[in-house]
Amino acid sequence: MRGPGEFSRVNRLADFEAREASAAAAGAAVKRAYVQRMFSDIAPRYDLLNRVLSLGIDRYWRRVALARLGWERDAAGTFLDLCAGTLDVARVLTARKAFRGRVIGADFAEPMLRAGKSKLAGRPIAPVVADALALPVPDGSLSGAIVSFGIRNVADLDACLREVHRALRPGARFVILEFSTPRVPLVRAVYHAYFHHVLPRIGGLVSGHRTAYTYLPDSVKNFPETTVLAARMQAAGYVDVSWRALTFGIAAVHVGEKQQTNNR
Ligand SMILES: C[S@@+](CC[C@H](N)C(=O)[O-])C[C@H]1O[C@@H](n2cnc3c(N)ncnc32)[C@H](O)[C@@H]1O
Repeated sequence: MRGPGEFSRVNRLADFEAREASAAAAGAAVKRAYVQRMFSDIAPRYDLLNRVLSLGIDRYWRRVALARLGWERDAAGTFLDLCAGTLDVARVLTARKAFRGRVIGADFAEPMLRAGKSKLAGRPIAPVVADALALPVPDGSLSGAIVSFGIRNVADLDACLREVHRALRPGARFVILEFSTPRVPLVRAVYHAYFHHVLPRIGGLVSGHRTAYTYLPDSVKNFPETTVLAARMQAAGYVDVSWRALTFGIAAVHVGEKQQTNNR
């Protein structure tokens, strides 16, 4: 039996945990609102800034990530471009010769999807205004999902990993392309100078948004390292998780699979 002192300790701990949980929820709500508004504001200049600030490398990174999706295994399936923005990934995937399926481009900032409207051009892409934490797709319905430079912005990473996992078919893959921090000291120093000093200035000037391009390096700094992200994918239920660094570790691509069921 617990003594009265122990009960009050338990109560204090429960109070503390409840306060922590509500502070975390409030923090997540603030982040969500900021991110949604910020991308809505910079939407008209987003593509231009992407090309200029990444010196065009972002296109190569998206191609490498798409090559890991394994869409060829179910070329007529339904795929998800999560945090789709201006639909670059959806456009490249649907332009593949053998692709016969469709792509849902989900993003919670409608102006971003609108800015990518020209990329639809009769392609089997369905832009959908939706939150990454509540996808409007049935369980086990997707043949694959990919998120490019989006997941670091989502307020609850683990919940997002679980939500995509729910929507995947057994055997389907989730590919995550995201910025990361280079390990080699010289590359790291150059990257740091560019990311924290050059990029915010050019980004701020061209987009007209004061904080969007200071938010970018900060969000990369706060995003889990490659090995930690891989572990969190496993914790969310993915199997065969692997990752590869791109361009001296400036970006990384992670892949995980939903376990096959053995109904024999
Ligand atoms: C940096 S952009 C990336 C766009 C695109 N995937 C690309 O590769 O250029 C990040 C996108 O994620 C979207 N986003 C962030 N959090 C989201 C969430 N919780 N649900 C849906 N979209 C979200 C933003 O609105 C934004 O369009």
